[in-house]
Amino acid sequence: MDGTNYAIKMKDNSYSPYSNFRVGACLEFLDGTLIGGCNIENASYGLTICAERVAVSNAIAQGKDLQSATTLYIATDSQTFTPPCGACLQVLVEFFTDLKVVLINSNETTQFTLNELLPHNFSKDNLN
Ligand code: THU
Repeated sequence: MDGTNYAIKMKDNSYSPYSNFRVGACLEFLDGTLIGGCNIENASYGLTICAERVAVSNAIAQGKDLQSATTLYIATDSQTFTPPCGACLQVLVEFFTDLKVVLINSNETTQFTLNELLPHNFSKDNLN
């Protein structure tokens, strides 16, 4: 299965009873590994975790070298594209520099680089 279809499949695992907005995400690595995530909501709404951050957490927990990730796929059922939210972008710049971000909606895909989505970001480089 390719990264697009894996992200689409991850939507099926979404726990989103409050928004009914299913999001699937998938990180693809140089060795072909695909690691997925889905959004997980909570009755205390602010505790919701986005699909992208779940995918990153899964990859770290599985011991993957995040430097070898090439692409993040994000799939929704929406007719518009769903870029990562600001919180997810901040988490992504913690771990990735040259990441391709592929957005998949109900009938088409588009792509950006992480740097296009969050230029001039604050990262560990700013702490020295
Ligand atoms: N959501 C994601 O999982 N990723 C995004 O990039 C945007 C928003 C989720 C959070 C919440 O469960 C639902 O979509 C509606 O905001």
